Amino acid sequence: MGEKKYYYFDNAATSWPKPEAVYRAVDTALRSGGSPGRSGHQRTLAAERQLFEAREKVAAFFGAQEPSSLIFTLNATDALNMAIKGLLNKGDHVLTTPFEHNSVARPLNAMARDGIITVTEIPCTDEGTLDLRELSSLFRPNTALVAAAHASNVSGYLLPVKELAAAAQARQVPFLLDAAQTAGVYPLDVKDLPADMLVFAGHKGTLGPQGVGGLILKEGIGLRPWREGGTGSRSHEVLQPAIMPDYLEAGTMNMPGIAGLQAGIAYIQSVGLENIRSHEVKLASMLREGLKKIPGTRVYGPADPKDGVAVVSFTLEGVDCGDVGFILEEVYGILCRTGLHCAPGAHRCLGTFPQGTIRLSPGFSTSEEDAAYVLKAVAEIAAEAGL
Ligand SMILES: Cc1ncc(COP(=O)(O)O)c(C=O)c1O
Repeated sequence: MGEKKYYYFDNAATSWPKPEAVYRAVDTALRSGGSPGRSGHQRTLAAERQLFEAREKVAAFFGAQEPSSLIFTLNATDALNMAIKGLLNKGDHVLTTPFEHNSVARPLNAMARDGIITVTEIPCTDEGTLDLRELSSLFRPNTALVAAAHASNVSGYLLPVKELAAAAQARQVPFLLDAAQTAGVYPLDVKDLPADMLVFAGHKGTLGPQGVGGLILKEGIGLRPWREGGTGSRSHEVLQPAIMPDYLEAGTMNMPGIAGLQAGIAYIQSVGLENIRSHEVKLASMLREGLKKIPGTRVYGPADPKDGVAVVSFTLEGVDCGDVGFILEEVYGILCRTGLHCAPGAHRCLGTFPQGTIRLSPGFSTSEEDAAYVLKAVAEIAAEAGL
């Protein structure tokens, strides 16, 4: 009996499969050993060169001119916490959006609960977009940060981040961009977009392994380190050395993860990001349009797939999302995510709180046949439910 075939539609959580070169790079790094900055033997020096090269390549991919402005982190959550907790002071005000992932919302809510900061959410429209009409009036004299996702991980909607960044820049307020859902799948250049702090997840669109992410800081943005420790540099100093990236990168570096991320980015560059983007727009469009035709479905997100990333959320009238996810996997071998996707605010905007949605997120290796198979499966589930 042949092995059951699975269809992976959960790239918004973590991309899979990875390009072959990523598996090889992780394997090579793990077999090479050596920890950058620690001791001076040949393996350490080789690892140091690998880290330097990876930092240069990854920083350049995002348009950052200075490699040391890139801090490697554990994931996007780690980078977001580093930015938020490293920047904000008592009495500060933060402007954010209802579409934020809990990795932005929870640190902000915890600081607000502890009386350190106040937070204002920009309202959303009935269509599930951001309402910028009153944006100017939401800034306060003590606004110290604007924090926004580049794309919603629930509906795929691309937020108007250029407008947000411009409004922040006009008031000399730092802008934090959470590019977890866009890095690697949507053009992103820190030179074009005035993002003072750009966060990405290394394991999603950039095709690296889990356990790696990054934060890119514009010159002049000073953060307090939220973790301190060994850097292999200036070990005689009692405090974290004030040199970048060591200042924010304490502890042994994730060399297999970073090497894998570098290979993921090299793969994207070899295929062409614009080709990945057009493939994903085509798949998202196919899924959205196909789902809309199935009786009882409600599809969320941008009407024009060019206004979003390849994240398609839908519900089936009267059917529990978890049940749909279960049938999709058990009967059809389709792996997707159901529920709130760690972003409850987005569901409040879309009217899908607390039940959530069924989220399909194709990736670079998803084919149109795969998407057609998913549509057929959803149509059968809807028919079975009497819709
Ligand atoms: C918009 C957004 N921000 C942040 C994160 C957190 O990413 P990580 O799991 O790498 O910490 C995610 C993960 O899904 C996300 O979609």
